[in-house]
Amino acid sequence: MPKQIILAAHFPGVNNTTVWSDPASGSQIDFDSFVHLARTAERGKFDFFFLAEGLRLREQRGRIHDLDVVGRPDTLTVLAALAAVTTHLGLAGTLNTTFREPYELARQLASLDHLSGGRAAWNVVTTSDAFTGENFRRGGYLDRSLRYERAAEFVRTARELWESWPAEAVVGDRDGGRYVADADPGAFAHHGDQFDIAGHFTVPRSPQVHPVILQAGDSPDGREFAVSSADAIFSRHGTLEDGQEFYRDVKSRLARYGRHPDDLKIIPGVTFVLGDTDAEAQERAHHIRRQQVSPQTAILLLEQLWNRDLSGYDPEGPLPVEDPDVSADAISRGRAGMYPDPVDTARQWRALAEEKGLGIRDLIIEVTGRQSFIGTPRQIAERMNHFVQSDAADGFILVPHLTPGGLDDFVDQVVPLLQERGVFRTEYAGTTLRHHLGLSPARPVGAASPSA
Ligand SMILES: Cc1cc2nc3c(=O)[nH]c(=O)nc-3n(C[C@H](O)[C@H](O)[C@H](O)COP(=O)(O)O)c2cc1C
Repeated sequence: MPKQIILAAHFPGVNNTTVWSDPASGSQIDFDSFVHLARTAERGKFDFFFLAEGLRLREQRGRIHDLDVVGRPDTLTVLAALAAVTTHLGLAGTLNTTFREPYELARQLASLDHLSGGRAAWNVVTTSDAFTGENFRRGGYLDRSLRYERAAEFVRTARELWESWPAEAVVGDRDGGRYVADADPGAFAHHGDQFDIAGHFTVPRSPQVHPVILQAGDSPDGREFAVSSADAIFSRHGTLEDGQEFYRDVKSRLARYGRHPDDLKIIPGVTFVLGDTDAEAQERAHHIRRQQVSPQTAILLLEQLWNRDLSGYDPEGPLPVEDPDVSADAISRGRAGMYPDPVDTARQWRALAEEKGLGIRDLIIEVTGRQSFIGTPRQIAERMNHFVQSDAADGFILVPHLTPGGLDDFVDQVVPLLQERGVFRTEYAGTTLRHHLGLSPARPVGAASPSA
């Protein structure tokens, strides 16, 4: 049996992976846009719909970074509304553990799981920086390593809360006058370094018990957290070799936690461009890249590496000769650690620009956000299947470049080809997201401590 492919639909915001200026591009806020993408994904029998999270408007050179502003209304509100207009599609929201509280978030996610009949998923992130924290009471008080400590205890606490109601707690015995079987449903007490809480959880056990847990964050701490606590990873490793290396690394760590390789799905975010011929798809991809990286955008993206005001530079001209400024505060705020070694990356970019004779804009087009799959529907179906069968991934979170219609052609033209190959469902076989993903029922909390 070939592996089955997981497919998810990322709702794009406004940034340089989308083309907001295209006449076919619609609102990132109107409910109709969310409904269109979700219903398209469900028509294509996708596993889940996915929302990222941005909690503060990013800034550059002290001003709002105007490419990255709109498109992120509150995640749980949007997903709850989508639960009412879809029937099978999983609903995944990115929700950070640094600024929230477990009781509140566990309650919201359990409610979403009830409202949707077992389709809720939580993409656990720690968020990147203190800058974002300024929007919140707790500010940016946590060091990087402590963020994962809090995240792990946060998820453990949420699991305790989700399990606090026994399976058959609500009996509704009219004759006997008993509504709940247990005298003390929802009782919990968690005493840990990060959270010290006790009481009764208000939401009875939800259909999945534990909403599906995804994780995004790539450091060694992030990977270990995923291996101990998550059902799936939203990764950045979207090329074949890189994907295979990541897949091997992460799956090989599972045994220490008594987990099977199938218990943790690897799902990179990828883009795609379709055409009737390969040449047409390549041409379209080239056009999309030029729309995504306008002359102004090229300078803004260059500044993010150089950490200097480069507004006086000609976008078609050569790269700066001086090195990035690593001593100053980051010119771009709200985006973390994109370039661990800016001086070395600048050196590589200069070498590439020289070798290929590229000016700033063309260089930026070359080095940022390339499309992952470009070709005819048949070529894309073949490549995606090859990726999954050769263990570079278990599936993909597709990031369309147009909101909200960017998934239409994929669903109409690529999905049937994957179905023909027997690697993607033609109908939903179950009702919960855990079932779609081929995950076993949620393990009880406490089952995830590493063996020596
Ligand atoms: C693929 C991917 C997607 C992410 N999406 C978000 C997001 O939507 N919102 C957010 O605040 N952080 C997001 N993050 C950031 C992570 O939560 C994390 O804070 C950051 O990557 C730093 O952790 P790390 O050092 O383990 O990578 C994402 C990270 C990855 C790798």
